[in-house]
Amino acid sequence: MSRHDVELIVNGRRHELRVQARHLLVHTLRDELGLTGTHVGCDTSNCGACTVLIDGDSAKSCTVLAVQADGAEVTTIEGLRGPYDGLSAVQEGFRQEHGLQCGYCTPGMIMASTSLLAQNPSPTDREIRQGLEGNLCRCTGYEMIVRSIRWAAEHPQPDQ
Ligand code: FES
Ligand code: FES
Repeated sequence: MSRHDVELIVNGRRHELRVQARHLLVHTLRDELGLTGTHVGCDTSNCGACTVLIDGDSAKSCTVLAVQADGAEVTTIEGLRGPYDGLSAVQEGFRQEHGLQCGYCTPGMIMASTSLLAQNPSPTDREIRQGLEGNLCRCTGYEMIVRSIRWAAEHPQPDQ
């Protein structure tokens, strides 16, 4: 099995890793770096639970090989920070508006929403729903998630 040296900057920390060519970024984050906030919810690239930011853009980390991310800056849910007792506005929005139930989809929802608000700080509800089309939730019915993101849009922070 061929192995490759990769360098990842994850949540601001540089990591030098030796990974199998077929190793997915999500497994590297979870198994090699212990960042288990990034979830695996499917094996069909549909659920979005594995969403992270790669060089600032949201990406499903189950669709990216670790070697493809060589040299990239990756942000996971553990890397978010903000003025709400350390939480970002999106994280606080989910807390304020009860945007989660079981929480399985939540890290992916929050990372996708963080990317959405970075590109569009004042989205309409329709734009929020379109922005989350790649993220599935089996619990909430989505309304509370939309409200959570609207809360975040109304309480922006400097890095959004
Ligand atoms: Fe479901 Fe990545 S784990 S899309
Ligand atoms: Fe349970 Fe979304 S809160 S899957």
